[in-house]
Amino acid sequence: MTELHRAHIFHICGSPVVADAARHLEHYPDGGLLVDDDGCIAWCGPWAERPPAAGAATVVDHPDSFLLPGFVDTHLHFPQVNCIDSYGGGQLLEWLNHCIFPSEAKLADPGFARGAAAEFCNRMISAGTTTGLVFGSQFPDAQDGLHEEVRRRGLRLVTGRTTQTVGPPSAEPLLTSEADAIRLTAEEIERWHPLDEAARAEALVQVAVVPRFTLSLTTTTLAALGELYEAYRDKGVYFTSHLNENNRPGTGEIDTVKQTFSVEHYLDTYDGRFLPGSEVGGPGFLGRRSVMAHGVHCTDAELARLAETGTSIAHCPVSQLFLGSGTMPWRRTIAAGVNVALGSDVAGGDEWFLPQVLNSCFKVHISEPGGASVSLHPAELLFTGTLAGARALDLEDRIGNLDAGKEADFVIIDPSRWPTLENSLRWGSRPAEPEAARDALLFTLLMAAREVTVAATYVRGRRLRTAEPVA
Ligand code: GUN
Ligand code: ZN
Repeated sequence: MTELHRAHIFHICGSPVVADAARHLEHYPDGGLLVDDDGCIAWCGPWAERPPAAGAATVVDHPDSFLLPGFVDTHLHFPQVNCIDSYGGGQLLEWLNHCIFPSEAKLADPGFARGAAAEFCNRMISAGTTTGLVFGSQFPDAQDGLHEEVRRRGLRLVTGRTTQTVGPPSAEPLLTSEADAIRLTAEEIERWHPLDEAARAEALVQVAVVPRFTLSLTTTTLAALGELYEAYRDKGVYFTSHLNENNRPGTGEIDTVKQTFSVEHYLDTYDGRFLPGSEVGGPGFLGRRSVMAHGVHCTDAELARLAETGTSIAHCPVSQLFLGSGTMPWRRTIAAGVNVALGSDVAGGDEWFLPQVLNSCFKVHISEPGGASVSLHPAELLFTGTLAGARALDLEDRIGNLDAGKEADFVIIDPSRWPTLENSLRWGSRPAEPEAARDALLFTLLMAAREVTVAATYVRGRRLRTAEPVA
């Protein structure tokens, strides 16, 4: 059934880089979005200019509400759905050892894992997140359960089991042999990834190769996983992992990687150069379907290599605050030509709702020291939470904005559900000049919205529903 949605619309049209987002900001205070029978966008524009074809459509009115493209979360962890705000008594590695590895081990229980999958989908839908790049469970049954649940609910997802073959004692339940790690990853791809190109063009769910981080693997596992990835790369399989997150001197993640592998740069370990002295040891993982989470402390050479290979960064400012990881240098990262998308990093980040992650994004970057400080334009924020994510996932031809021909992934925000937002939108002073007023309105919308304002979440034109928690 063709539907014509009526609401206050913002989106970033076309295919700009982030610096051009403001010039591509489209705004229809009384707007229409025409969604065809296939769930694709037939038209988006001012309500008064709706095309003749809209006459036959069912009107879905969203009075006093905003319609935005669905949010794209390029970094979050399924097996951490139930352990937000865990106290690790330290930074990344302490938090992993004390809280996260034991929490992820609970998904060995099939009942718990089923409930976790249902809750994970509920949380995404409630937050208006239509697409996620998701670190999966180490346990094949739990991961199968996620695939099934996501398909049932109609979310768009890229996910793969989190691979770990070495780690501290608390990670023991999550570890497999190298042979099992490769076998289980291959089985997930064969079972759940659309290997056929035509099927891929239609698919909502795809699979990624997901080593947890370099410290979870040996050089031989990196080589074997690289060979596996090489075998499936042309089938559109994704790659994601963590990069340059914690720089505590001596004992933090980055120094430990460099000491353990004797490499020059952390990124070398994902680029096939994981042998001592950054010698080549096998195929690398970088490319247009590769996303590195965090990238807080990249060298210029690493940023150049990310840009050169089309590898994106999933920027996770809430997590970086929570784990004391520091601030990704916005200006330097963008200037290097890297696509920067947004990640909640649940549960390193304790916030599912991406506008709130953008809220932190704005605050941490305006607070960067000296000339590094940047006051991000509201269109750059919207771009980062939507179109940049679609680009990071190589899905820009299908999602990320409301251009005609794309699949209709969108979210309805109803300010009346959160008085702080409603009051600010209604009473806040904004410039007289229309363009500046538009920008100020979008800024308030993105910064002051809360998850409770999400009135509806649509993927490919279909409204998604939360489900009762599994007992
Ligand atoms: N590095 C390795 N594993 C993790 C994880 O689960 N969360 C975060 N934030 N960083 C990691
Ligand atoms: Zn993470």
